[in-house]
Amino acid sequence: MAILNILKYPEESLSQPSIKIDVIDDKIKKLVEDMGETMFHDAGVGLAAPQIGVNKRIIVYDSHARDPEYDETLREITVLINPEIIASHGSFISEDEGCLSVVEYRANVKRYEKVTVKALNIDGEPLEFDAEGVLSVIMQHEIDHLDGILFIDRISSLKRAMYKKKRLKELKKEQ
Ligand code: NI
Repeated sequence: MAILNILKYPEESLSQPSIKIDVIDDKIKKLVEDMGETMFHDAGVGLAAPQIGVNKRIIVYDSHARDPEYDETLREITVLINPEIIASHGSFISEDEGCLSVVEYRANVKRYEKVTVKALNIDGEPLEFDAEGVLSVIMQHEIDHLDGILFIDRISSLKRAMYKKKRLKELKKEQ
């Protein structure tokens, strides 16, 4: 297993749509393992393949992230291949949402309260489930990544412009 480099905004490929997986081969399985390890290493609760530079429709998440008594010993990786939201209802504000690809920034984001997700598991078997609360946010956030959308694309354009300005300034300093 390996810890992969996570791409950061404004990396261009983060805003490009990802392609569907036709065959879940050993290469994909290895990639998924590395994604899980990378996610835990960086203390994330979800990670999408485009974040590590692979524009394919794969996400991993920590299925225990929604547990109220969460601690690190509980963490467990779940993989979804070609996930899609097939139904949604209600709306609420996801508070202080963040992303491993958006450094040093958090914002409130309007999200669906509940979503129904359809996907394949790592063995290529179809599955469908309802998600609410934290899990619902993770699903929307990670599936957005597969469509080239970051959470900062879902906040006001003014806030986004301010973040972009700050980020570009920091990048300039680093050079
Ligand atoms: Ni993210």
